Amino acid sequence: MDKLFSLDERLKMCASLVRKSARLADVGSDHAYLPVWLLKQGKISFAIASDINEKPLGNGRLTAEKYGAENIKLRLGSGLDAIDKSDNITDIVIAGMGGEVISEIILKSPLTRDENLNIILQPMTKSGELISFLYENGFEIYTQRCVISKGKCYTVMAVRYTSQKTEISDIFPYTGKLDLNDEVNLRFINAHIKHLENKSLGDNSLIPLVKKLKNITKNN
Ligand SMILES: C[S@@+](CC[C@H](N)C(=O)[O-])C[C@H]1O[C@@H](n2cnc3c(N)ncnc32)[C@H](O)[C@@H]1O
Repeated sequence: MDKLFSLDERLKMCASLVRKSARLADVGSDHAYLPVWLLKQGKISFAIASDINEKPLGNGRLTAEKYGAENIKLRLGSGLDAIDKSDNITDIVIAGMGGEVISEIILKSPLTRDENLNIILQPMTKSGELISFLYENGFEIYTQRCVISKGKCYTVMAVRYTSQKTEISDIFPYTGKLDLNDEVNLRFINAHIKHLENKSLGDNSLIPLVKKLKNITKNN
């Protein structure tokens, strides 16, 4: 059997937020690197690797076979349609998709309205919109970090349903629960500031938001 591969820093960060002995659903798993790695490390007990497309699901099957992963099921389906309540999933990862696709997946499935479920999200785009969506729909971020992987900066958040819709400030979609003393987190927020600053050239109403973000990151 082949020697186990390493995860890249982005997937490693997602893996670090999965709880020990979890029953994991990796939605949009593609090569199934994350669940196979976690199973082979003995960190989790069971995994479903799901994907909306046949080809990536086939990639996942090859990874599971190549590395001899047991207790993994490969399922075809959109979002959480591939997961059943009887699977007793404790942790979900949705990584490597746009923020709006992630929001849609969460919104569509009643399975996500479970206060004991650990939901790990890694949006490739629109993380601000995703954070606003989460708080408008009764979810809360309890851990958020950023990581540099292959030269790019990503954010990863662990979220749970609280049933309380919480109002958030105008800067929160950009700062979330990030520690502002961390260099990598600041790099991520600064990318938001640059983007908003460009948008503010055509939309004056964004100028106060840009100023606030610059103030709290001491980037004047
Ligand atoms: C860029 S890959 C990410 C793979 C892996 N999660 C990662 O982060 O490295 C995105 C995968 O999500 C799948 N996907 C996109 N929309 C989906 C949906 N609504 N439900 C399930 N899978 C989806 C795609 O087919 C693709 O395999």
